[in-house]
Amino acid sequence: KDLSCFNTLGLKSWAKNYISLCNETDLKGVLGLLKSGAPYFILGGGSNVVLSEQIDQIVVHNQLKGINLVQESASEWLVEAAAGEIWHDFVVYCIQQGWYGLENLALIPGTVGAAPVQNIGAYGVELKDRLDSVLAYDPLTQTERVFNNGQCCFAYRDSLFKHEEGKGLIITAVRFRLPKQWTPVLSYPDLQQYESLQPGLTAQAILEAVCDIRRRKLPDPKVTGNAGSFFKNPVIPAQQYWPLKQQFPDLVAYEQPNDCYKLAAGWMIDQCGWKGRQLGNAGVHARQALVIINTGKACAADITAIAKAIANDVMNKFGVLLEPEPVFVGAGY
Ligand code: EPU
Repeated sequence: KDLSCFNTLGLKSWAKNYISLCNETDLKGVLGLLKSGAPYFILGGGSNVVLSEQIDQIVVHNQLKGINLVQESASEWLVEAAAGEIWHDFVVYCIQQGWYGLENLALIPGTVGAAPVQNIGAYGVELKDRLDSVLAYDPLTQTERVFNNGQCCFAYRDSLFKHEEGKGLIITAVRFRLPKQWTPVLSYPDLQQYESLQPGLTAQAILEAVCDIRRRKLPDPKVTGNAGSFFKNPVIPAQQYWPLKQQFPDLVAYEQPNDCYKLAAGWMIDQCGWKGRQLGNAGVHARQALVIINTGKACAADITAIAKAIANDVMNKFGVLLEPEPVFVGAGY
């Protein structure tokens, strides 16, 4: 099966074994097949993966659909979405229903099921701030498991589902807890600008503002292959931060708990002169240095080559290690 249309980087990739997971019957089949212990990989929207040219693992393409209100109390809505729902469509649907709280996460590419894996976050909100629980099947034990928010071990662009214990799980649905007493999150400087122009932004207005900001900075994967931010913003201890800040007074950083600082990787990459540059069949987006793009016929090796060259330059100039955000499937990084 040709996977080039199933990954937003648009990389050439071929899967020997591909199974579409669309309903309960498919799920039974998939679980039966995976019982044998054959290696597999779960594909969602393909927006956070670097797929190698040939994939030997069984590819399970999660396309489970459905959104429903599971419970409503005086103070909140409990909403469940199936893993194969398109994330942005789900966000828009929630706002239309009056279930506010996910508007800052609008326009993030990918599916609902992939969202908890890397704990998606943008404009002051992370998935973990709204998530109630994750429903998943464990092919090893052939049982359904429910992980509450704490059990998901969420951290910045990280969760249990990225690590050994959770990697093999098939996430079937995600539940969200959305308070009826809505509080807008406008901490992000770009959003503050919108608020000052038009005080009292509604959830719908925030959704539109976020879409606006993202469209300005980030390439549309339908037009230019990309996987969003390619590197995580590195978190460094204060004793490493202060000398660096002295050497580079314009360094962009955000204070974190535990005496740490999160550096804007995009700024550092930009300082190394990478914005708009190309290497092989890959390049760096002209408006956001943190985004690697497919300039035409890229395969995984092109992406790895440019990513390593960028990380190398940042290491040499700032002494900081950049780690890729997407998951590499097939060949490693
Ligand atoms: N900057 C530059 N040059 C660049 C890019 C950024 O100087 O080429 C500077 C900006 O001016 C700003 C700072 O770096 O002062 C941070 O940039 P920005 O606000 O665009 O956010 P980011 O740190 O680059 C993160 C997330 C994004 C998320 C935005 C908004 C990560 C790895 N990325 O980007 O997430 O949308 O904040 O919250 O945490 C994604 O994960 O795919 C993603 C797009």
